[in-house]
Amino acid sequence: MTDLINTAVIGHPIEHSLSPLIHNHWIAEYGLRGEYAAVDIMPDDIKQGIQNLIDQGYAGFNVTIPHKEAVLNLCQYVDEAAQKIGAVNTVKISENGSLSGFNTDHYGFIQNIKAHDSQFDFAAGGAMVLGAGGAARAVIYGLCKQGVPEIRLANRTMEKAEQLALDFPEAPIDVVAWDDREYAAEGVNMLVNTTALGMSGMDGLDYSLDHLASDALVTDIVYNPLYTDLLQAAKMRGNACVTGIGMLLHQARPAFEKWYGVLPQVSDDLTEKVLEALR
Ligand code: ATR
Repeated sequence: MTDLINTAVIGHPIEHSLSPLIHNHWIAEYGLRGEYAAVDIMPDDIKQGIQNLIDQGYAGFNVTIPHKEAVLNLCQYVDEAAQKIGAVNTVKISENGSLSGFNTDHYGFIQNIKAHDSQFDFAAGGAMVLGAGGAARAVIYGLCKQGVPEIRLANRTMEKAEQLALDFPEAPIDVVAWDDREYAAEGVNMLVNTTALGMSGMDGLDYSLDHLASDALVTDIVYNPLYTDLLQAAKMRGNACVTGIGMLLHQARPAFEKWYGVLPQVSDDLTEKVLEALR
């Protein structure tokens, strides 16, 4: 019989997290023993909350809003990606209770595009990135690792984009004004929305694709709705579209592997389950 391995996602609020569904699906699919729980921890209780998981013998946990930055400072080891991105989304707890922090969001972003088009050549052209928050940092880290030659970065608060560019000195980033975000898409290979705009309950993105090449790929990290206004408009004009749900699914894979020793696959069955939960 395999070892009992318990894991969790921590955040606040946490009840809408789809991570338990994803990881428990894989635990069953790969015949493993354990459970992936959703644990609500208030920001002020983060240290004690994590200590409780250690004391209960958890093998590790995912981290979501609002703890991704705080947990980075509680880890004894932090991998290069999490350090650069400034956020930890995956923690492995060692036998002696020490914490290793990782960031798998950049992997999820890249793998989602590769799952759509395994031949997609990131190095063949520039990328237009909207937004300069935590998600943008993961996206830019991933794009740089893939050799994207140029990143045009537009954010409502320009200083945040400028700070991001300073934090990634090796990245080929051109900060452009938010008002120029549509013109700036001219000639790029891909357009990425990393802002929360377009998410159900939020304002729309308000973005015309008139300047985007018809063969550019468009992707949105927002997955609720699955087809945001941006993706619908892109689809209408024939651009390749990659929805955000795959980023969520693929970022979970290396986390699962760290705890359970199996790199799981994103099956149609799992994708359908997650989409059903969103409906
Ligand atoms: P995340 O970790 O998901 O990236 P975040 O760090 O809060 O979340 O970043 C949210 C992003 O959405 C930011 O780029 C933010 O722009 P600002 O830096 O100007 O705040 C962007 N965003 C949120 N609401 C917006 C709006 N109404 N118009 C334009 N951009 C918006």
